Amino acid sequence: MMPLLNVERLSKDFGTHQVLKSIDLTVAAGDVTCIVGPSGSGKSTLLRCLNYLEVPTSGAVYLEGEPVGLRFKGDKLYRMSFNELSVQRQKMGMVFQGFHLFPHKTALENIIEAPMIVKRKGRAQATEEAHALLDKVGLADRADYYPRQLSGGQQQRVAIARSLAMQPTLMLFDEPTSALDPELVGEVLAVMRQLAEEGMTMVVVTHEMSFARDVADHLVFMDGGIIVEAGHPKDVLSNPQHSRTRSFLARVL
Ligand SMILES: Nc1ncnc2c1ncn2[C@@H]1O[C@H](COP(=O)(O)OP(=O)(O)OP(=O)(O)O)[C@@H](O)[C@H]1O
Ligand SMILES: [Mg+2]
Repeated sequence: MMPLLNVERLSKDFGTHQVLKSIDLTVAAGDVTCIVGPSGSGKSTLLRCLNYLEVPTSGAVYLEGEPVGLRFKGDKLYRMSFNELSVQRQKMGMVFQGFHLFPHKTALENIIEAPMIVKRKGRAQATEEAHALLDKVGLADRADYYPRQLSGGQQQRVAIARSLAMQPTLMLFDEPTSALDPELVGEVLAVMRQLAEEGMTMVVVTHEMSFARDVADHLVFMDGGIIVEAGHPKDVLSNPQHSRTRSFLARVL
């Protein structure tokens, strides 16, 4: 079966600094892949290359068999137009460490914005779906609150609901709980765990090793721009094969 996401020999340079070095990665539909590794190892850059927020220096990403950010004309690949890229990006929801909500819009207004403008949904339908999503992330009673009236954990759950409103095929998370006070981490992880159980395909950069162990189908350890080791989380965590993995785990577990 064709993987949902296929990363082939992906490299990324910033000037003379090669940040990603020929990364290969596949993600099957419905799988949760957690990416861990030390600061500066290239985790965010990899995630950003997946939806073409960063343009790879070489190699490519395929989503459902289609090259991301590129299209074939005959047998040659060209950069997509901005509009074509926007359509493709709608398939990939992205949640960041900072929540990036619109501060002057309520939770509900944050969620209905893109479906109405990008997907041209009517307000009534978008609002109905947004209420269902707020309920799903445990915030049915916060629809009319502004971001500044919500805790960090609540804001991040609104951000997740906002991404889901675009009905993505794949969700990308870059350290979604790293900016949160410790007591708020659990409520966000619980929403992510529920999404995983419902079959959402997810790629999650995280430092939450217990989430990775319990929820991930696949754990990827990155260091120095390469995938040092990958496998089932229980194997990687309990029986790491590489000394770099062992020393990283010794620091974070
Ligand atoms: N836009 C950029 N221009 C130049 N260098 C960059 C840029 N973005 C990232 N880098 C460099 O690429 C390397 C990898 O950065 P990246 O943010 O992907 O690491 P990370 O694994 O996500 O780290 P962290 O755990 O701290 O978030 C770092 O050395 C960083 O300085
Ligand atoms: Mg990062």
